[in-house]
Amino acid sequence: MAAFISARAEAGLLAGNRITINGVGGDEPILEGHASDSGVRSGRSRGAAGGRGGPAAAGAGRGGRGGRRIRGQLPRRLPPEGRYSLPLPFTPGAEGAGTVVEVGPDVADVAVGDRVGWVEIPGTYAERAVVDSSRLVPLPDDIDFETAAAVLLQGMTAHYLVKDAYPVQGGDTVLVHAAAGGMGLLLTQLITHLGGRVIGTTSTAAKAELAKRAGAAEVILSSAVDDLAAEVRRLNGGQGLPVVFDGVGAHTFDASLASLRTRGHLVLFGAASGAVPPFDPIRLAHGGSLTLIRPSLGDFIADRSELLRRAADVFEWVRSKALEVTVTGRYALSEASRAHSDLEARRTTGKLLLVPDAAAVGSREETQG
Ligand SMILES: NC(=O)c1ccc[n+]([C@@H]2O[C@H](COP(=O)([O-])OP(=O)(O)OC[C@H]3O[C@@H](n4cnc5c(N)ncnc54)[C@H](OP(=O)(O)O)[C@@H]3O)[C@@H](O)[C@H]2O)c1
Repeated sequence: MAAFISARAEAGLLAGNRITINGVGGDEPILEGHASDSGVRSGRSRGAAGGRGGPAAAGAGRGGRGGRRIRGQLPRRLPPEGRYSLPLPFTPGAEGAGTVVEVGPDVADVAVGDRVGWVEIPGTYAERAVVDSSRLVPLPDDIDFETAAAVLLQGMTAHYLVKDAYPVQGGDTVLVHAAAGGMGLLLTQLITHLGGRVIGTTSTAAKAELAKRAGAAEVILSSAVDDLAAEVRRLNGGQGLPVVFDGVGAHTFDASLASLRTRGHLVLFGAASGAVPPFDPIRLAHGGSLTLIRPSLGDFIADRSELLRRAADVFEWVRSKALEVTVTGRYALSEASRAHSDLEARRTTGKLLLVPDAAAVGSREETQG
């Protein structure tokens, strides 16, 4: 992807508010940013298309219109690890949905007015984004913007996790960590849909209830058990499991390995609690010839036909209600910082959306407190 281009270069074409992060680190508010008056980011020049008016998914900053200075927080765990570091300043975000407002001169596959969604496009905490047209997913008429923004990234992630990273078979008993989180709820629904049995973990009774509603057969409150792997085995008749889906990382990695049966698979797809420290691969042999995969969505939608195939399957799952998209919070784009504080404090379940400030009026009460 090309680098940021100057707002001025596209003035009047793609102007719109965006969140800009100017700094991270420290114990005090570790983000200072402002909402600038441009949401311009460049894709390849030949494929530019702008999304407008739709929501983006929250996944930091607090902004206002017209360059008002703001302060907020970024999750503290990210900068010290330097794993997802970006040159400052940057605009966070990777997914969203909206209407095409402009196309490049040689773009034939999308037109102004088309409804589209996108994932893995950096810098989309913005009212407008520039996206390579080959990365746009056309939205079917029955899929609204909020559903598309909420489900595309996590839905396609859940899709490749259960279909490719480890193809779940009917009868498999599967451990899903953070089963009430955004990914956790989708994985739990899909594994159940495919005939698997889910043992979930979570931190509170209320979240456990959500995970059960999504289909989890058993939910372990992590704080209530001393030995998580022993509890998993107890709930599986004393046996280890064929697979663990772990998006939590540092806090759960050891228990995940210890929960597997001989030749079991650990699908480590995230690090919500921090990165897993370096480890000696001999542990995989000692655990029973285990395999470990650390997959990334981009490698499973690199090809356009694969992107569209996964998106179509996800939309079909939404239609058939195999997947229920749980949007639990809508925040104005200028309140992105509050969304991130809620995520970091583990107060959230399901999916949060950032909506352009003008469209956020009326949804504030829903997300207050
Ligand atoms: N590899 C990929 O292709 C891919 C794609 C999408 C997402 N991901 C990754 O998957 C992970 C989960 O994503 P998500 O969207 O489901 O996130 P999320 O909705 O924020 O859920 C994360 C959950 O992790 C649990 N958790 C445990 N320790 C935590 C801590 N110290 N801080 C915050 N949460 C903690 C919390 O559940 P409890 O309170 O119940 O423990 C929380 O609800 C993230 O690391 C994300 O980057 C990877």
